Amino acid sequence: MINVTKSYLPDLEEYTNYLKEIWETVHLTNDGPLLRKLESQLKEFLGVKHLKFCTNGTVVLQMALKALGINKEVITTPFSYVATTNAILWEGCTPVFADIRPDDFNIDPAKIEPLITENTQAIMATHVYGNACQIEQIQAIAEKHNLKVIYDAAHTFGATYNDRSILSYGDVSTCSFHATKVFHTVEGGCIVTDDDELAQKLHFYRSFGHRNDDYFSIGINAKNSEFHAAMGLCVLPKVPDLIAARRQVFSYYNNRLDFTRITRPSLTPGVGYNYAYYPIVLDSEETLLRVADALKAQDITPRRYFYPSLNKLPFVITSDNDKAQYCPISEDVALRVLCLPLYPSLSEAEVDQISGIVNEAIAIVSENA
Ligand SMILES: Cc1ncc(COP(=O)(O)O)c(C=O)c1O
Repeated sequence: MINVTKSYLPDLEEYTNYLKEIWETVHLTNDGPLLRKLESQLKEFLGVKHLKFCTNGTVVLQMALKALGINKEVITTPFSYVATTNAILWEGCTPVFADIRPDDFNIDPAKIEPLITENTQAIMATHVYGNACQIEQIQAIAEKHNLKVIYDAAHTFGATYNDRSILSYGDVSTCSFHATKVFHTVEGGCIVTDDDELAQKLHFYRSFGHRNDDYFSIGINAKNSEFHAAMGLCVLPKVPDLIAARRQVFSYYNNRLDFTRITRPSLTPGVGYNYAYYPIVLDSEETLLRVADALKAQDITPRRYFYPSLNKLPFVITSDNDKAQYCPISEDVALRVLCLPLYPSLSEAEVDQISGIVNEAIAIVSENA
């Protein structure tokens, strides 16, 4: 069986060495020594000023909105994982969807400005598949209209834009360290900012708002444990090798798939890519379903990622935000995009097999057309 992703696990002995430390300190959670060590290594690896290691890549989006005082309209992308929209709604804000660019599926800056109203407070954009948004244009719009920029950078670990971590852009950037990501801590995530005051707020937010015996403010429980930090400490040094292995899998696919009937999103110039996902775009949803069925028949599981376009989620469509509900490019791409299996240990023979099935299924559909 080949799944769309497979988590990397370090040598068990490496992990158990950290477990021995935990058994010695009996410090299991609450800002423990391994968490602090991981945070400091992550800051160094990414070259960022402030970074808080938290429980997942969803709660950090919520914390970002809360910390920036956002409670009205947020202009966001319809082409992301549901967590992006969920965070906006969960914080009581209104998502306003700006359609995406047809070439790389990131939010289209030209679609943002016409949606700005007196209630707009922030732009929350996703760097789709780990590829950078139009960062300068988004920043210029934000400055012109006094908006905050939050990047859902869940996919970007190890990816750079103009030689800086993609996580270093925006007022706040967040990442997911879920087990399936390029770098993982089983479950986990982080929130990154350059702003000292904001970083302090986020520090207290993460732990119920506690400041010693007092309360700094309202807070949430977004603390992560020493066990998760230990996994991160094991995986982090391997990230360059893991990205190199992913890159190799990419080139196998690039050499084997029949690109006369498949397209792929483009990369933003200036991006040092992390090879997080391998999406292919088919000519129709019907072809996509045929390809997915052919793969599943051989015990290979691709993923419709992202699907559906988030402006089409039933809990998003309400009478007072219907102006934001028409995103034809995102709606079209979401029907036709399929992520093929990609992980560092996927072999050349397996990519050969997957590519053969994809090419054949597409050929059959077009012959019958
Ligand atoms: C774009 C995006 N944002 C947020 C998340 C949520 O991250 P987590 O699963 O760590 O909560 C994901 C998860 O895959 C994601 O793809």
